[in-house]
Amino acid sequence: MSAGAILVTGGAGFIGANFVLAWIAAEGAPVVNLDKLTYAGNLDSLARLKGDTRHRFVKGDIGDRALVASLLREHKPRAIVHFAAESHVDRSIHGPADFVQTNVMGSFALLEETRAYWSQLPSAEQDRFRFLHVSTDEVYGSLGPRDPAFTEETPYAPNSPYSASKAASDHLVRSYHHTYGLPTVTTNCSNNYGPYQFPEKLIPLMILNALQRKPLPVYGDGRNVRDWLFVSDHCEAVRVALARGRPGETYNIGGNAEKTNIDVVRAVCAILDELRPDAAPHEKLISYVQDRPGHDRRYAIDAGKMRNELGWAPRERFDSGLRRTVEWYLDNMKWVDGVASGEYRNWIDLNYGKRA
Ligand code: NAD
Ligand code: DAU
Repeated sequence: MSAGAILVTGGAGFIGANFVLAWIAAEGAPVVNLDKLTYAGNLDSLARLKGDTRHRFVKGDIGDRALVASLLREHKPRAIVHFAAESHVDRSIHGPADFVQTNVMGSFALLEETRAYWSQLPSAEQDRFRFLHVSTDEVYGSLGPRDPAFTEETPYAPNSPYSASKAASDHLVRSYHHTYGLPTVTTNCSNNYGPYQFPEKLIPLMILNALQRKPLPVYGDGRNVRDWLFVSDHCEAVRVALARGRPGETYNIGGNAEKTNIDVVRAVCAILDELRPDAAPHEKLISYVQDRPGHDRRYAIDAGKMRNELGWAPRERFDSGLRRTVEWYLDNMKWVDGVASGEYRNWIDLNYGKRA
């Protein structure tokens, strides 16, 4: 692979695939994409890159140190963008072990091999190198209704096995900068939505259930608040943080679009009423179910540092981004059929069987 390549981990997942597609379109530079292809990884999301020599896909685990070492030796990337993770809070409640394994131990293995690779680079290349760690706003815990939004100074208070495992990886990344001087940048982002999101997450689950006239399971009272960001805005923010972020710093990324879950579900229903009027009103499918254990009440991001220091701000408004998302799922039912495998149906039975 030609010079200037970056190594992306988890590039067959929701945000990673959007990032790889956007990176190659915007930068034209090669990507080595290391992904284990868990249930959440899907090469169909990268179908547009078939035959494109700028994309080299490698099926493998970030915890496989020999594999990571050989990829670093072979491709000499100028940066690593680390998306790979177990990412679903509900799954972390049913089975936390995979979260500790990939998010903590896997990130540790990746950091160790990165440190070994980076240490032997000539000093000018060491200075230019970046390890960009993609993390989440969930590490900050839960806000009350009138609390100010999370800043980069908000103390960590993770509440789920998922957010605890991400917090652990953030701390490891921080320590590799402070102890070894590795040029790391960490981003903590709010809830993403958009094309290619696996339908275990709120917005695609609601779209697909509504299309099948199945109940729309809203946890608890539906008043939990999330701060929604269109996925291409997140991908752009990661590109900006990679290009201009200061080593050792963390940057919060958010959409400035706080919504209660019930408002999000109603908005999905309203768009479907327009696009699929035969089944209107879709709201009649809303069903309040048992709450998620330990459910964080509210997340909100203050993205002032990204705006003031790096000049980034989200482009997409929530209403137009949601419409684009619903339309994308309606136009891409083949992709949906590809991911709605037996394993996916097992998950739906496990998580919702007892809640309905
Ligand atoms: P996802 O679950 O859709 O994709 C994760 C990808 O990582 C999959 O392709 C999977 O196969 C791969 N993977 C998992 N374990 C692996 C391993 N051991 N080795 C190599 N690959 C592995 O996740 P996503 O929603 O795209 O999230 C990507 C990253 O962004 C995660 O680190 C997540 O914590 C973070 N994040 C997500 C959101 C969101 O709203 N989705 C918001 C903020 C931050
Ligand atoms: O905040 C960033 C995080 O956003 C990321 O770090 C995670 O990887 C990502 O999964 C997401 O976490 P959430 O738990 O917020 O996302 P999820 O789509 O699972 O749920 C969004 C909200 O909707 C949450 O309050 C729970 C609720 N919900 C979710 C599902 C799946 C429901 O009410 N019903 C559901 O069926």
